[in-house]
Amino acid sequence: MSLMRVEHLQKAFGSLVVTRDVSLDLKPGERHVIIGPNGAGKTSFIHQLGGQLLPDAGKIFIGDEDVTGLQPEQLAQRGLARTFQKNTLFQGLTAFENARLGAQARFGSTYGMIRAVLARSDLNERAMQALTRLSLAHLADMQVSSLSYGDQRQLEMAVALAGEPRILLLDEPTSGLSPAETSQLIQLIKGLPAELGIIMIEHDMEVVFSIADRITVLYYGEVLASGAPGDVAANARVREVYLGASSNA
Ligand SMILES: Nc1ncnc2c1ncn2[C@@H]1O[C@H](COP(=O)(O)OP(=O)(O)OP(=O)(O)O)[C@@H](O)[C@H]1O
Ligand SMILES: [Mg+2]
Repeated sequence: MSLMRVEHLQKAFGSLVVTRDVSLDLKPGERHVIIGPNGAGKTSFIHQLGGQLLPDAGKIFIGDEDVTGLQPEQLAQRGLARTFQKNTLFQGLTAFENARLGAQARFGSTYGMIRAVLARSDLNERAMQALTRLSLAHLADMQVSSLSYGDQRQLEMAVALAGEPRILLLDEPTSGLSPAETSQLIQLIKGLPAELGIIMIEHDMEVVFSIADRITVLYYGEVLASGAPGDVAANARVREVYLGASSNA
């Protein structure tokens, strides 16, 4: 049984095709990493999975449910959470308030009036747990705009995890992080619940190969290769157009 399934997804901006007949399958617990050169269409692909961008054709399923065309809020309620290549935190709110919004996106609207008080403490607890998991608890009351870039990247992850997702989409979570922050984030990702399915875009090949159960290579919107890390690394075409050209493109 798949957590998420993508069938023949297609998207163009005018004459520029950014997603060309992409199919993909995410199993519970799978760490599926998407790589490809700049402009390959990785972010556009994730935007379609997250509901930020409407595909032109093709289907997206969460479990058995066709979720194609659903809004990000509706996908959040189905257990999908994501981070962005450029963070989308509320700069004027505190770290805690941001994390709480992450919990609310998943659990907020399912509570009736009568449980409002209970819901509040429940959401607060989830928010605090997520901050603690990312070692950000001591920054809970800090306004986001006063946090370092590295802490903001970590906070984005906390916001996503506060909703206790079943599916997590990460768009270059390590970009701009120091080596120490990067290895801390890798450890965190490795320590996430075993049944969580992750689709992650990543440029740093060390990170890619330390995390991936499966790698998909996008190239001009198309799947160039998809499979176990060893098979993808050995793929002649992948080496030619991507891995061989640069390890940090
Ligand atoms: N809203 C848009 N309208 C028009 N073109 C777009 C839009 N968004 C992205 N593009 C173009 O689509 C192509 C794919 O962009 P996308 O951001 O998906 O690539 P990417 O693989 O994530 O690249 P990077 O590694 O630089 O993040 C690029 O040529 C980009 O300029
Ligand atoms: Mg991108």
